[in-house]
Amino acid sequence: MPTETISRPAAAVKIGLPKIKTTLPGPNAKRIIADDDRLISPSYTRSYPLVAKRGRGAIIEDVDGNEFLDFSAGIAVTSTGHCHPEVVGAIQRQAAELIHMSGTDFYYESMTQLAERLSRIAPMPGPHKFYFGNSGTEAVECALKLARYHTKRQGVIAFYGAFHGRTMGSLSLTASKPQQRRRFAPLVPGVTHVPYPYTYRFGEGKTEREYGLACARFIEERLFKTTVPPEDVAAIFVEPIQGEGGYVPAPPEFLRELRRICDENGIMLVADEVQSGAGRTGKWWAIEHAGVEPDIVCIAKGIASGMPLGITMSRASVMDWVPGSHASTFGGNPVAIAAALASMDVIERDGLRNAATVGEKLKQRMSSWVPKYPMVGDVRGKGLMLAVEMVKDKQSKAPAAKVRDRIVELAFESGVLLLGCGETSIRLSPPLLVTQEQGDYALDVLEKCIETASE
Ligand SMILES: Cc1ncc(COP(=O)(O)O)c(C=O)c1O
Repeated sequence: MPTETISRPAAAVKIGLPKIKTTLPGPNAKRIIADDDRLISPSYTRSYPLVAKRGRGAIIEDVDGNEFLDFSAGIAVTSTGHCHPEVVGAIQRQAAELIHMSGTDFYYESMTQLAERLSRIAPMPGPHKFYFGNSGTEAVECALKLARYHTKRQGVIAFYGAFHGRTMGSLSLTASKPQQRRRFAPLVPGVTHVPYPYTYRFGEGKTEREYGLACARFIEERLFKTTVPPEDVAAIFVEPIQGEGGYVPAPPEFLRELRRICDENGIMLVADEVQSGAGRTGKWWAIEHAGVEPDIVCIAKGIASGMPLGITMSRASVMDWVPGSHASTFGGNPVAIAAALASMDVIERDGLRNAATVGEKLKQRMSSWVPKYPMVGDVRGKGLMLAVEMVKDKQSKAPAAKVRDRIVELAFESGVLLLGCGETSIRLSPPLLVTQEQGDYALDVLEKCIETASE
């Protein structure tokens, strides 16, 4: 992609690449944002003024006719791209037949069809059982209640940097940003946070393996021997790749140690795959890269390409609660399930391979930025879950959050939608079907923005 396209994005005329026609935000976007300011909860975190109108594949068109290349996928949700025809067709057919009947009180076949389908690709051996909710946080709430119910224990271990959701139970596990917790206490008691192997930032002088082992053993050698008796612990909740915390992959040795600690102490290992799952890393589940089998898996975001669906999957023996213990009126809505079945067809056929191959090429190129740019501290991730961490300088690794935010804004102005994550990182989470050409284009823009913002 020629560099001049960044300063004159309207020149990019190829299909599937951005076309910016107005100043941003355009007149229609400005009007809608003014109404939004008046009417919508100020708790939302908008990074830049994108007002979406329609989406196709990796392209989002705004209300002024500008077209953007979407490397956010609506926070890692539109796995098959925006409005994939197979997903749209499945939603339309299902909506014309049955929109809702509540799986809590009645039966419908698509629920068991999706369960069978997920069971075939589960990261742990079957038999499995499934609970259906509407969102990531609900999948986590279910896992939390289930682990306590099944083990008859109260304690839970989670990690610094973790993001598991915003409702009271999942928020109690979340330890990502103070604003997410400020003034909401008291939260659910019994949760202890321990260090996550974020080696680049906290594992000074250690390899990823060494720091991963040190973090896992901290639980055994310090926590269990001081404040938290292991027989009181119901579950360890872990994101195999921390998402909101900065797209930080856990070293495989860390996850394997967690498995051993759980096995030795009768603790449930819960993999929160809400962001890292559904094919995003090139495998169905990020934990598969480590060959670790969890007891419970939380699924949402990409599994239904944007229809609201949260799923908690467990070994069948774990889901031993009785009627009335947990349920949801809307959970496992037939339209959302139809979208999930269609999404899984597309992800299986095209998404997994594409995420692995395009993701690997993008990561290779991004890795070359570390020696090239003083403010690029780290590049990491798997498949199409990639991040660049910005620092003031490589020596101090001081976070460069303002520069990061500026880069994200500049990319928007150049037609590429990105999001930040963690204190000072930029995440790339495009649809799994993104083309190599779109990937190259997005990296050309991002690189140029890094150069401009670092000046
Ligand atoms: C790992 C993880 N768990 C849980 C959640 C919460 O999902 P939701 O926003 O759908 O409630 C998120 C959302 O970003 C997430 O990344």
